[in-house]
Amino acid sequence: MQTIRVETPSARYDVVIGSGLIRTLAPRIERAIGKLPRRVFVLTSPEIWALWGEAFSASFPQPPIALFLPAGEKHKTIASVDKLLRQMISAGGDRGSLLIAFGGGIVGDVGGFLAAIFMRGIPYVQVPTTFLSQVDSSVGGKTGVNLPEGKNLVGSFHHPRAVFADIEVLGTLSDRELRAGLMESVKAGIIRDRSLVRFMEAHASDVLRRDPRALEKVIAASVRMKADVVHRDEREGGLRMILNFGHTLGHAIEQVTRYKALLHGEAVGWGMIAALYLARQRGSISSRQFERLESLIHLYGPLPPLKVRAARLVAASGADKKNIGGVRRFVLPVGIGDAGVVEDVTPAELEAAARYMLARALELHA
Ligand SMILES: NC(=O)c1ccc[n+]([C@@H]2O[C@H](COP(=O)([O-])OP(=O)(O)OC[C@H]3O[C@@H](n4cnc5c(N)ncnc54)[C@H](O)[C@@H]3O)[C@@H](O)[C@H]2O)c1
Ligand SMILES: [Zn+2]
Repeated sequence: MQTIRVETPSARYDVVIGSGLIRTLAPRIERAIGKLPRRVFVLTSPEIWALWGEAFSASFPQPPIALFLPAGEKHKTIASVDKLLRQMISAGGDRGSLLIAFGGGIVGDVGGFLAAIFMRGIPYVQVPTTFLSQVDSSVGGKTGVNLPEGKNLVGSFHHPRAVFADIEVLGTLSDRELRAGLMESVKAGIIRDRSLVRFMEAHASDVLRRDPRALEKVIAASVRMKADVVHRDEREGGLRMILNFGHTLGHAIEQVTRYKALLHGEAVGWGMIAALYLARQRGSISSRQFERLESLIHLYGPLPPLKVRAARLVAASGADKKNIGGVRRFVLPVGIGDAGVVEDVTPAELEAAARYMLARALELHA
């Protein structure tokens, strides 16, 4: 078991990583926040609750009040939030209530947002159940929902009081979801942790067959990286931007394929390959480092085919809301374990990188 402290100007909490945590959750939460309030809500999805609800509830003196959000990005909406808030009121929720978000990143983002706005804000705890949510979305305090106009356009910064990442729960996750989530750990290593890169190279088979010790090591290193970045830059004024490595083209791929063909992590995997190519062209990584890092990404693949045009991706990436004032901000790795932000990437460079990535996708799926 490992505990990682997250500290920002507005919050301080622990991320606990280990096997079987949900079976002893109630005393763990009490240790983090004090005595459990009268109303404890758990936001989850019907599938996760069917698999893990019993184990989850076992340690509570009274079972928490379950609220359900169906799986899928299409339910990450204001309409769901409205419905859930009203359910909380009719179940007697008040300013003293606690909410636990028990699910993947969607449940975590919606749960955090509910907690941010219910009665002007109540405490919440994250119990992430996907690899991606354990290493990424449960840490950092970003919460929110989508609009038809785009993803994550409404939300709030609201940090959890504690995060419990249970490795046992990952046992029922599909292989594809696991591999996709691992791309965020590959990202963590490339931008800030050489030793994580080395570990993921040497232990890919242990990680992919879900050896608990190997998973704990990768999750802890990834969380430590994110905690450190969020500590230095809570609201994405500068450094936090490096977490977007691979995401400029990754988001463009998701947008152009209408969020249907690829999982987020898979799109980021391809986006990182393009960004690595650009970095090699600019000399911020060597050819040898480029080959090594691209191989690492494929080690945790296979990434799915890409049936899009380079020019469309470039157009889509220009519309990325993270490009403040139209400046094309782009995260480039510097060697292995470091990264910086550049603002002078031209559309032609981006298109060349996208072409390289598309050619690799064709080769891989020939
Ligand atoms: N807040 C942040 O900082 C942040 C960062 C990254 C991503 N996100 C958000 O996270 C969301 C994606 O999260 P995700 O990748 O976890 O996807 P997800 O929440 O959709 O979960 C993926 C699927 O796995 C299932 N599932 C979850 N846990 C399971 C388990 N233990 N066993 C079996 N099945 C399980 C879910 O029901 C779902 O079908 C996106 O909406 C994204 O915007 C937020
Ligand atoms: Zn991501």
